[in-house]
This record gives sequence, structure tokens and C-alpha cells, in this order.
Amino acid sequence: MADSLIIKNLNASIGDRQILKNFSLTIPKGEVHAIMGPNGTGKSTLAKVLAGHPDYTVQSGEATLDGQPILGQEPDSIARAGLFLAFQYPSEIPGVTIANFIRAALIARQEKGAPFDAKAYYAELYAKMDALKMDRKFTSRFVNEGFSGGEKKRCEILQMMMLKPKYAVLDETDSGLDIDALRIVSEGVNHMRGPSIGCLVITHYQRLLEYIVPDRVHIMYDGHIVHSGGKELAVELEAKGYDWVKKELASA
Ligand SMILES: Nc1ncnc2c1ncn2[C@@H]1O[C@H](COP(=O)(O)OP(=O)(O)O)[C@@H](O)[C@H]1O
Ligand SMILES: [Mg+2]
Repeated sequence: MADSLIIKNLNASIGDRQILKNFSLTIPKGEVHAIMGPNGTGKSTLAKVLAGHPDYTVQSGEATLDGQPILGQEPDSIARAGLFLAFQYPSEIPGVTIANFIRAALIARQEKGAPFDAKAYYAELYAKMDALKMDRKFTSRFVNEGFSGGEKKRCEILQMMMLKPKYAVLDETDSGLDIDALRIVSEGVNHMRGPSIGCLVITHYQRLLEYIVPDRVHIMYDGHIVHSGGKELAVELEAKGYDWVKKELASA
């Protein structure tokens, strides 16, 4: 089978609450999939469980990146295996500049002791910041500290463009973005699209999917996927609303 991010029968909880219930999904490399679902259905939980967030307990199931198991690994080694997560609510890292943060992440992925080409690094960083219309002054700002919602999201996409992951999960990247920022961020993601990356775009609204047109759309409800289709499913869902999912699909 072609390289994929494969999630099989995943069950995960936080505290005594079961959130992910037999969740399964396969994202072949080269494709962009979208998950849409009402608030509280477990979308962010899925993203955080995949990234190895310590607050969640995985009871059963598996997740593999090109055949490599990731569940139960440290977030750091999952990232090095090639998974990138853009958070719904990116955290601040006081005292660490964006330039140093991304550089450290790149060095961590290199072979130990390999030389790092700082000149090439800054040339690439600046080119990508220009593409995302980010002021170059941001390189010396502390990660996300005092950033607006839109600036945080651009910073996440900048990290993704620099790290070039095998798989990227973007959790509600559209929240907090005005229409211009949405277009710029989407262009960044579209620019990265290609045979060497698989993307999972999580969103509550169809709006983002007008810019990042997905190959497949999945509707998530009550901790698992209840319906899958092509890009037209997002439009249908927007028209019919999440009540439709509840009545027609979740009961099926
Ligand atoms: N720390 C927590 N303790 C208890 N429940 C939580 C915690 N974090 C999230 N939840 C609950 O888990 C459910 C799924 O949340 P989440 O994955 O954020 O949903 P979504 O991203 O789809 O809106 C929600 O009902 C939420 O209230
Ligand atoms: Mg969420």
C-alpha cells in the first residue's frame, strides 16, 4: 500500500470522558482530507492524541505514519517522524524567538553534529515570511507572545512550510483569520500540496475549504467519522447543517 497516515479503531479519553470512539481514517500521501464536525465532537482531541499530548489516554487502536507507529511516543519523536500539528490555540513560548524556535526544530531533525547552513536558513525563512506577508521583524519576536489570532496562525503555517513534514494536521486554522489572512494562509498550504505530503484540515465551517479544496471530506460526530464524500459534501453540510448529521447520518 502507498505511504499513508493510517488511524485504526482509535479510542481515547480525557479524565473519565470517552472522546474518540473507534475512530478510523486513512490519508494517503499526496492527498488533502478535511474533517468537519460540530463543536465538542472530538476534532481537536484527535489532533492532540496524534501529536502525543500527555493529557489524553489511549485505550486502544493504532496510528501509523508510513508504517511507523506513533501512539504512545513522545511529541518530539512523533514530530521527528514527520507529523506536524498546527494548533487551534497555539501557545506562547516566552523567551524563544521564532527564528531560534524553527532553527532548533530543524537542527533536531538533522543527523547529530551535521553542519547547519545559517545563511541558507535565513534566506528561506525570509522568502517564506514574504510569501505569508509576515513582517521580517517577527523573526526576533517571542513565539506567539502578544500575537493576534491571525498572526499566530501565520506563524504556525510558517513553521509548517519550514519543517516540510510528511503529514500535517491543521486544527481550525481558519479561526481568528479575516478574509485576507485566510487567503494568504490557504495559499501557503496550497503551495505545499504535492506528492510528498498528506494533509488533514480540521474545520467547523466550509469557508476554509473554498480556498483549500480537499480531495475527501469526512464528517465527524460523537467521536468518529459518520460519513465521507468528495469536496461537494462540505457544501451539502453547510446547506443542511449539523442537525442533518445528527438525524440522518449518526443514526444510520
Ligand atoms: N481537559 C478536558 N477535560 C474534560 N473534558 C474535556 C477536556 N478537553 C476537552 N474536553 C471535552 O472533550 C470534548 C471534545 O473536545 P474537542 O476535541 O476540543 O472538540 P472539537 O475540537 O470537536 O470542538 C468536548 O466535549 C470537551 O468539552
Ligand atoms: Mg477543536
